Amino acid sequence: MSVAGQTWWIVGASEGLGRALAQAMAAEGARLVLSARNARRLEDLAAGLRDARAVAFDVTDPLASATAAAAAGPVDGVIYCVGLYTPMTAQTWNPDEACAIAEANFIGALRLLGHVVPAMIVRRRGRVVLIGSLAGHRGLPGAIGYGASKAAIMHLAENLHADLHGTGVAVQVVNPGFIETRLTARNSFAMPQIMPPAAAAARVMRAIAGGRFSTSFPAPFAWLFLLGRWLPLGVFHALLRRGSR
Ligand SMILES: NC(=O)c1ccc[n+]([C@@H]2O[C@H](COP(=O)([O-])OP(=O)(O)OC[C@H]3O[C@@H](n4cnc5c(N)ncnc54)[C@H](OP(=O)(O)O)[C@@H]3O)[C@@H](O)[C@H]2O)c1
Repeated sequence: MSVAGQTWWIVGASEGLGRALAQAMAAEGARLVLSARNARRLEDLAAGLRDARAVAFDVTDPLASATAAAAAGPVDGVIYCVGLYTPMTAQTWNPDEACAIAEANFIGALRLLGHVVPAMIVRRRGRVVLIGSLAGHRGLPGAIGYGASKAAIMHLAENLHADLHGTGVAVQVVNPGFIETRLTARNSFAMPQIMPPAAAAARVMRAIAGGRFSTSFPAPFAWLFLLGRWLPLGVFHALLRRGSR
């Protein structure tokens, strides 16, 4: 399934994976609507692409989300690629920061997609791509706020998969491992198989083209999380501790 000639809305497009996805989708001939908070970064990006426009807004602002959905107009596809992350343990728990992460990563998606998906159902066409994370498959150390927000996004994708059956609207969830972005710049631990944003974007593009509901990458790192879902939690955490020594 090609994105050439289609209009896609990338939310979280100013930096990192979303920015690389915008470049990859534009190279394939998609028309783009680009969103995030930083209007200048979006406009710089849009100016370098063939057919792209910026709609800057904050996904945690309900009114701005509704206005942005109207400004984006009917789209063939939407990618929710917003990400906020601070390494946080039970010992370093900052409640305001944890809630800000959940607001941006999950509540923002609930709000925004509520403006987009029903209209796709009426048109009987559309594609919804949610960016999850390997960190959403199971509870990990140091991921208070972030881990649960990604698990929630991945669960939302399953809700949509059930509800959208037979409507002409498709949903996919893509769960990356570590990507070299400002999010992971905050990590002080070893990050196996970390990849540049362009490489991760190419994997997401492949997943979109393939049409499979759920994709986790990169292998073999992703296998630990996919198989880990079936392990007792204590065994999974013991494996993680051993791997990080
Ligand atoms: N990096 C990784 O290792 C990794 C691994 C797995 C999954 N992911 C996921 O990949 C996605 C992209 O993350 P990234 O690593 O590329 O991070 P990033 O470089 O920090 O990009 C995050 C994007 O989200 C936007 N954003 C953040 N808060 C927002 C808000 N309140 N309203 C609107 N836009 C907002 C940011 O733009 P503004 O600051 O301009 O608003 C930026 O465009 C996220 O869903 C993340 O969870 C990342």
